Amino acid sequence: MTKQFDVVVIGAGPGGYIAAIRAAQLGLSTACIESESYADPKGEVRLGGTCLNVGCIPSKALLRSSELFDEASHAFVMHGITAENVKVDVATLVRRKDNIVTQLTGGIRGLFKKHKVALLVGRGSFKGREDELWQVEVAGKDGAEVVAAKHVIVATGSSARHLDGIPVDNKIICDNAGALSFDSVPRRLGVIGAGVIGLELGSVWKRLGSEVTLLEALPDFLAAADPAVAKEAWKAFTREQGLKIHLGVKIGAVKQGKKGVTVDYENGEGDQKLECDRLIVSVGRVPNTAGLGAESVGLAVDSRGRIDVNDHCQTNLENVWAVGDVIRGPMLAHKGMEEGAMVAELIAGQAGHVNYDAIPWVIYTHPEIAWVGKTETQLKNEGVEFRAGQIPFAANGRALGQGDTTGFVKMLADARTDRILGVHVIGASASELIAEAVVAMEFGASSEDIARICHAHPTLSEVMHEAALAVDRRPLHF
Ligand code: FAD
Ligand code: NAI
Repeated sequence: MTKQFDVVVIGAGPGGYIAAIRAAQLGLSTACIESESYADPKGEVRLGGTCLNVGCIPSKALLRSSELFDEASHAFVMHGITAENVKVDVATLVRRKDNIVTQLTGGIRGLFKKHKVALLVGRGSFKGREDELWQVEVAGKDGAEVVAAKHVIVATGSSARHLDGIPVDNKIICDNAGALSFDSVPRRLGVIGAGVIGLELGSVWKRLGSEVTLLEALPDFLAAADPAVAKEAWKAFTREQGLKIHLGVKIGAVKQGKKGVTVDYENGEGDQKLECDRLIVSVGRVPNTAGLGAESVGLAVDSRGRIDVNDHCQTNLENVWAVGDVIRGPMLAHKGMEEGAMVAELIAGQAGHVNYDAIPWVIYTHPEIAWVGKTETQLKNEGVEFRAGQIPFAANGRALGQGDTTGFVKMLADARTDRILGVHVIGASASELIAEAVVAMEFGASSEDIARICHAHPTLSEVMHEAALAVDRRPLHF
């Protein structure tokens, strides 16, 4: 007999597994289909999608290891600590990362069991609709079955975009998957695309000793960030850390030979050549819709291949929803998770919602970069009058004590109402500090609200406090 569920989720990444768990929590019979894209050494499917397997979690594990190596090599000395002959064993570093992935992907399996989410292993695709039930095929290595569902949530995520003429083998020429598992530190590492992955993974291998060159098509560095943040980041990454970043390039032929890779490119100064031992291609991601049977049931996709949805993640088909990287909006795990929870709540008849104006961005480089809300450029383009307060970490006792004073907090507030419109942080622990700004924006806070809140001393969060005071031109420690 055909298995029947209230909700079938296709894809067990952050968008999908959260949707499944929340739906089950709300009493809906729920199944989650996951293909065999990621598997453990025994061949058992790994849940958690890009994020847990080849994205957020493994990259942060490597960032931490490489940061420690960098500190031991360069920062201990200012504390009077001598660490001579500091070495890194790449195999151990990668194994540690793999163990974290194993632990967390297994954790999702445990959560599915706890919440009674049925895991169906195989590729999910639409086969049609009968008696108001969507028919979804699950095609695994042991055969195919069709299950029926009142609601389907598509959470098939995204894959790395590759470029024509640049064959990715994930050994020498790599996307994110290969770049997280190098077996040694390349002497010369090339990176195409100075976006989030390029900067994070470029930083990892630079700290471990590679000579890293990033080739970026756009003429502006970190164009999505606030201009003051982008300027500070440029200074830190290029002048202080020695990342070589070339902007406004046009990539030409890429040739792989015995000795490595040669990338021909053009910039304002003519034809150039980059020779490297390994190359990372990190030029954005494409939504996973191939093989989903979208056309066969008339599921609408937009001009960029993403499943078309409204503000509540409803597609053009009744009771078919889509969340995460496969739809519009930033490709961020926490955005997908919020959407997954929202959709499950809407299906259960509750009032789910996502505030797309308060989704934080974090880039886990050193210094870290984090923001929420509008940049100064966006506000100017929109003709919004604002007041800005900016305070450097150099004016903060805790930052000095920690020996890490790079960066600042910048707060932008409406000139008339004082409502906070955007907060931009570059500096140590920016990823954690931004949470206060997200809460403030969710609650419609003014800069004065933050200025009146007691912040523990001595903490980095005092810089947020001072930035709020600075909006009103009355900082107390600067
Ligand atoms: P995915 O995580 O891509 O999961 C989709 C799942 O669906 C996959 O498991 C896939 O196998 C499965 N699937 C696809 N098609 C089918 C099918 N037909 N049938 C069955 N299963 C299917 N975001 C952050 O917020 N913070 C970070 O620090 C961060 N770091 C990142 C670092 C890297 C290197 C990369 C590549 C990404 C990073 N991201 C980060 C982005 C984040 O990983 C994604 O936004 C997030 O994983 C998207 O979640 P998702 O559930 O939409 O899709
Ligand atoms: P990205 O969009 O951040 O950066 C890609 C960069 O490549 C852009 O700067 C783009 O201009 C450039 N580019 C595109 N085509 C090019 C070409 N032909 N030649 C040279 N440069 C070119 O995408 P990235 O880094 O691949 O990451 C994908 C997504 O994954 C991110 O947008 C983000 O959503 C997510 N992610 C999030 C992280 C986080 O939250 N910390 C970390 C890593 C990834």
